[in-house]
Amino acid sequence: MTKEMNQHMTKSEQRVALVTGAAQGIGAAIAKELAADGMKVVVADINGDGAQTVASEIDGVAKTLDVSDPDQVSATIADIVSEFGRIDVLVNNAALVPLTAWEDISFEEWRRVMSVNLDGIYLVTHAVTKVMGEAGYGRIVNIASNTFVAGTPNCAHYVATKGASIGLVRGLAGELGKLGITINAVAPGIIASEGVLTGPHVAGFDFVVPMQAINRRGMPSDVAPAVAFLASEKAEWITGQTLVVDAGHTRN
Ligand SMILES: NC(=O)c1ccc[n+]([C@@H]2O[C@H](COP(=O)([O-])OP(=O)(O)OC[C@H]3O[C@@H](n4cnc5c(N)ncnc54)[C@H](O)[C@@H]3O)[C@@H](O)[C@H]2O)c1
Repeated sequence: MTKEMNQHMTKSEQRVALVTGAAQGIGAAIAKELAADGMKVVVADINGDGAQTVASEIDGVAKTLDVSDPDQVSATIADIVSEFGRIDVLVNNAALVPLTAWEDISFEEWRRVMSVNLDGIYLVTHAVTKVMGEAGYGRIVNIASNTFVAGTPNCAHYVATKGASIGLVRGLAGELGKLGITINAVAPGIIASEGVLTGPHVAGFDFVVPMQAINRRGMPSDVAPAVAFLASEKAEWITGQTLVVDAGHTRN
């Protein structure tokens, strides 16, 4: 479906996309890209004010949502279905991005990272695939990370969740394919999101950028088009895959 076609559709025909963790960074860039492709985008984030700001820029809808909370997830999905009657695209983007040496990772921190980065994907995907399955159409994209390929140190819990999100894509594609749903992962390299720029990961640019085939800092807008393609009807024949989007940083 082209952008022009989508813009001329009635409310009930327009594709609806749910992007989690979309108040800033890569998620916000994805929300803007999908809106530019003509979709109605639900901007969901634990930061409700940030979600509202992004949603207002793209004629989208904001939802305050902690993806690790089962009750919030089921209520949010029910709200979207009652408002729009459909969810065509799900981008599982929300995550905690810690930098903690192995010996300092407490069980509490381990559980919190698992809860947001992995349980959150389970909860949202499990609810949304019911809706997509009934419609016989769906596109799901998990935002993983090239840290799973690179084996980046000092975030073993994070890397474990990103590997698991790729595992879920591979393990679930067969069951979802029968329902007309594709599921893929996009694995970015280091990106100048708000989260990275305001945290300890920012130091990573100094040694990662020289290893990239393209030697500049990656921006959220460098990742969003790959996600938008996998979220489009054109990507019908691609499922169970992981697309690394890291300017050639990892290219063995
Ligand atoms: N920036 C990078 O270098 C990079 C690289 C590879 C992968 N990624 C992945 O891209 C995604 C986005 O990263 P980013 O750098 O834009 O992050 P960010 O920290 O800038 O933004 C993350 C967003 O997720 C939201 N969020 C956090 N916990 C949440 C929860 N429980 N429920 C709902 N929303 C929640 C935050 O409020 C925030 O708006 C993540 O999955 C991250 O792992 C980022």
